[in-house]
Formats: sequence, structure tokens, C-alpha cells
Amino acid sequence: MVHAPPRPPAGAPPVRINLYSDTQTRPTPAMLEAMTRAEVGDDQSGNDPTINALCDRMAALLGKEAAVFLPSGTMCNVIATLVHTRPGDEILAHETAHIINSEGGAHAALGGVQITGLAGPRGMFDAEAVRAAIRPRNRNAPPQTMLEVEQTSNHGGGAVWPKAQLDAVAAVAHEQGWATHMDGARLLNACVASGIPAAEMCAGFDTAWLDFTKGLGAPLGAVLCGSEEFIGHAWRWKQRLGGAMRQGGVCAAACLYALDHHVDRLAEDHMNAAALARGLKQIPGIEVTDPDTNLVYFDPRGAGFSPADLQTELRRQGILVSALAGKIRACTHLDVSSGMIEETLAAIRGIVAER
Ligand SMILES: Cc1ncc(COP(=O)(O)O)c(C=O)c1O
Repeated sequence: MVHAPPRPPAGAPPVRINLYSDTQTRPTPAMLEAMTRAEVGDDQSGNDPTINALCDRMAALLGKEAAVFLPSGTMCNVIATLVHTRPGDEILAHETAHIINSEGGAHAALGGVQITGLAGPRGMFDAEAVRAAIRPRNRNAPPQTMLEVEQTSNHGGGAVWPKAQLDAVAAVAHEQGWATHMDGARLLNACVASGIPAAEMCAGFDTAWLDFTKGLGAPLGAVLCGSEEFIGHAWRWKQRLGGAMRQGGVCAAACLYALDHHVDRLAEDHMNAAALARGLKQIPGIEVTDPDTNLVYFDPRGAGFSPADLQTELRRQGILVSALAGKIRACTHLDVSSGMIEETLAAIRGIVAER
């Protein structure tokens, strides 16, 4: 079974409003042009100039010594685990974390670690929860070596961790001598929403990464940042896992283009998400979690629809959303306009009214 959009119902038109995920963006013509103009070399030998420029820029943006370009965010998380931990270790993360639920068990399969999920509202836990999970250091307990957070939290509804809470959980981890790692798949959404610069946001974290394939709109790529020493080890894993590229500068050029042109506009995605949530709240029976950023989670069951049923009805009108356990997720991004949000609301109002 694959987490993928369902087959369209018979006779459904092509998708015209795609709220399924912020990974569904298509590169813009200007981004494609930047890709065709990219100066390229051999990434595997460390001499693709566009990849190197992207890494330098990302290290500076996240306030770390060095960076490595990888094909995906999943590979960033897996490599962080492989460098920070040893087989048999335990990682602490939120129970809804991507590393627990959506990476195919990679951290156990490749790193031999166990990940313990902490509870807390909206994908976030606090310092008390971390303290409560500290194990005695004896032969029976697994060594605890890493704490992971997701900024923003995907299954927490795109929630932005308050900076003080991030610092507090990182401080407990460091007191214990654990590594701290930030899954920054949507880090810049958090920075744009809060006004806090990325380097400050991840200052308490030894390693952090940013995905370019979410709201930033690039077709491929994520950059993992950390100390020179960490990145040296990460490079060995990049090579081992087959993540070392050749003329990957073509893709890095799209990421550089996104940094220049697609960051400030994330605020528009957040406004569109807020408008969607406001409109949904006015539809009787629909329960909405207020979004901090670009992910809107809502429960349509009070209006008489299971998430899967409402997903199908919307798909019949060319609108694609994601149906999860008990909830629908609608993501705003580069290819979603405010007009599309109005159309989506009108469609949902119509579907609910007909029932
Ligand atoms: C929070 C979070 N972490 C990691 C990932 C993995 O990123 P990628 O799809 O680039 O492997 C995702 C992707 O949706 C995500 O939402």
C-alpha cells in the first residue's frame, strides 16, 4: 500500500485545484530556465559549483559550519540518525513524527535504533515530557543518544514550535549529552510565520535541514547542515547510500532560485490556509484546527461525511485533498491561489448542503 492520491472516481475531471500536498508543485518556467543555465560539475567528487554554492548558502542561512546536498528530506533524517547514533540506541521524537510514521522504518532497518514517541499537543512536546522519558544509564536500558523535532510539525497541523520551547527541549537533550536534530522539511514556513530567522530557530540543534520540494517549489533536493565534522561523516553515508550525484547542479539551481524567489511568498500560502480555515469553520459540522502555516486539517464527520467520502466528492469536482485517519488535510502552496480557496469553500458548502 502506498500513501498516494486515490484513483479518481469514474468520470472525474482532471485535477484543477491540488491541495493534496505542498510537494505537488511544478517548477515554474523561471525556475526551469535557471536550471538550464546552471553551471555543473561532478557532485560525487565535490566539485559541482552550483551544489557547492547552495551548500555554502544553506550553512550560512541555518548558522551551521557546513552542509550537504541530498536528494530528499528522508535521506537527511536517515543520515542524521546514522551519524548521531549507534545500533541499539534510542531516539526521542514526537509520536506523530515523520521519522516514526513515514520513512518506511528506515531508522530501524538501516540504523538499528528504536524511536520512542513522546506525546504533546499539535506535534510538539515540552521539556517535562523529555525529562520524564530519560532512562537510567544501566545495562538494561537502551542508550539514549538523540532528540528529534519537526519544525513545522506536519501531523501537528503545520504547527510552529515556539522558539523558547525548542530551546528548552534542546537544553534537556544537551544536559544528557544527546545530539539534537531538527527535521526542517518546512522550516522556512515556521520562520516566515514567526519572523524568527532560520539560524536562530535551529540554534539549539546540532543538525537541521530544509526541504526544497515542499512550499519552495523545487523538483528535488534537501540540504542537511551541521558541524564540519558531522558533514564529513554525512558525506560518507551519502556515498554509501547512493545519494552522491553527478551533474546535480541542475537541481541545486532550482533550490537557489527558490531561496531567491519563493521564501517571502510563503506568507501568501499561510494567508490562503487561514482563509480556508475561516471559511470551513462557518460550515456546520466541520471541525477545523487553526493553522499556523500552510497545512489545514479538518474533520468533516460532524457534517455527515467520512474524510474519504468528502475527498471523493471533491475529486468529482477536480479538487484533490488528502484523507487521513479521521481528518482531511488541505495544503496551500505555490500553485494554489486565493481564488482556488474560494472555489474549494464553495464546493464544500455545496456538497454539505446537498446531503
Ligand atoms: C515533516 C517531514 N519530514 C520529512 C519529510 C520527507 O521529505 P522527502 O519527501 O523530501 O523525503 C516530509 C515529507 O513530506 C515531511 O513532511
